[in-house]
Amino acid sequence: MRQIRELLDSISTGIVALDANLQIVALNAAGQALLETSEARCIGQHAGSLILHSADWLQRLRHALSNNTPQASRGVSLVLVSGQEVRVDIIITPILDGEGPFRLVVELTAVDRLLKISRDESAQHAQETSRAIIRGLAHEIKNPLGGVRGAAQLLAKELPNAALAEYTDVIIREADRLRDLVDRLLGPNRQLDVQPLNIHEIMEHVRNLITAESGNQVVITRDYDPSLPEFPCDRAQLIQAVLNIMRNALQAAAPNLDQCEIILRSRSQRQFTVGAKLHRLVCRIDIIDNGPGIPADLMPAVFAPMVTGRADGTGLGLSIAQSIIYLHGGALECDSRPGETRFTFYLPMDTRDA
Ligand SMILES: Nc1ncnc2c1ncn2[C@@H]1O[C@H](COP(=O)(O)OP(=O)(O)OP(=O)(O)O)[C@@H](O)[C@H]1O
Ligand SMILES: [Mg+2]
Repeated sequence: MRQIRELLDSISTGIVALDANLQIVALNAAGQALLETSEARCIGQHAGSLILHSADWLQRLRHALSNNTPQASRGVSLVLVSGQEVRVDIIITPILDGEGPFRLVVELTAVDRLLKISRDESAQHAQETSRAIIRGLAHEIKNPLGGVRGAAQLLAKELPNAALAEYTDVIIREADRLRDLVDRLLGPNRQLDVQPLNIHEIMEHVRNLITAESGNQVVITRDYDPSLPEFPCDRAQLIQAVLNIMRNALQAAAPNLDQCEIILRSRSQRQFTVGAKLHRLVCRIDIIDNGPGIPADLMPAVFAPMVTGRADGTGLGLSIAQSIIYLHGGALECDSRPGETRFTFYLPMDTRDA
C-alpha cells in the first residue's frame, strides 16, 4: 500500500479518488498542491467541498458515474476554497469492478502552470541574451575607463596649480561611478557559496534592515511556515535579492512610509515545476506590499536591466534579484495592481536538485 502511495505522490498530475457517494477516498500530493488542501482535511468529505461554485464540477462527476464512461474536459475553470481560480484539464475515469472503495478517478492538470513554465523558460532565455550583451559592453567600457582614470591620476600629480585638481577629481570620481555601474550591471559575478541555511533567518535579517531603513515606520507582517527545513543557498546573495525587492516596495510607498505594509510569507510546495524541471519540494516566498503598484508600461520588462520608473533608479535591482534566484535553480515572478504588488520566488529545497 505504501508503495502505491509513493507512486501516486510521484505523479505530477493531481489525482482525486472518489467513492460511489462522491466522497474523497484519496488525494495525491500534486492534487493537494493544486487544490490547496491536505489529504487529512478532505478524506471522507464530499467532492463538492473541494471547490466553490461546485455545481458544474459535481455534474461532470455524476455524469461519468451514472454513464460509466470516461470524460475529458479541457480548460475548465475551478474556484478554490481560497478564492483563487485555477484552469485545469480534467479526465474522469469510472472504475467498474474494482475491489477497493474507488468508483471514480479524477485527473487534474493545471493549464496555467504549463503556460507559466514556458514563460519561465523564455524569461530565462531573454535574460541570458541580455547578460551576454552586457558582458561584452562592460568589457569594452571598463578597459578604456581604467586608462582614463590612471591618466587623470598622473595628470593630477603634474598640475602646476593645485586648484586645477578639481577637474582631475571630477574625472576620477565619474570614472569610479561608471565602473560601479558597470559592475552592478554585470550582476552577481561569483560562484554561489551554498550552505544549508534557514530561509527565515535570511528573511528576518532583511526585515530588520528594511525596518531600520524606513525609520521604524513600515509594518512588516510575517507569515512563515516553521516546518520549512534548511536547504542549500548562498546567504549573502539571497539577502541581496530579498533586499532589492523589499527596498522597491519602500521606495514606491515613499513618502507615505507610515502607510506601507509588507507581508513576508513562506510555504513549502510539493511536486512543483520550476523552469522545465519538476522538483519534489520547493520553498515558495511571497513578498507582498500595499503600495501604488508597478506602472503598467513597465510591467512587461520589469526584470530587464536598466528599466526603471524612478528618477534616480538604475533599474538593476530586480534584474540582479532575478539572476540570483536563477543561479539557485529557482524562478522569480511578479504580479502587480494598485494596492497589491506581489513578488514570488521559488527555490528548490531538494538537495539532490540543488
Ligand atoms: N513593489 C513595487 N511597487 C511599485 N513599483 C515597483 C515595485 N518594485 C519595482 N517597481 C518598479 O519597477 C522599477 C524597476 O525596479 P528595479 O529595482 O529593477 O530598479 P530601480 O528600483 O528603479 O533601481 P535600482 O534598484 O537599481 O536602484 C522601479 O523603478 C519601480 O518603478
Ligand atoms: Mg530597485
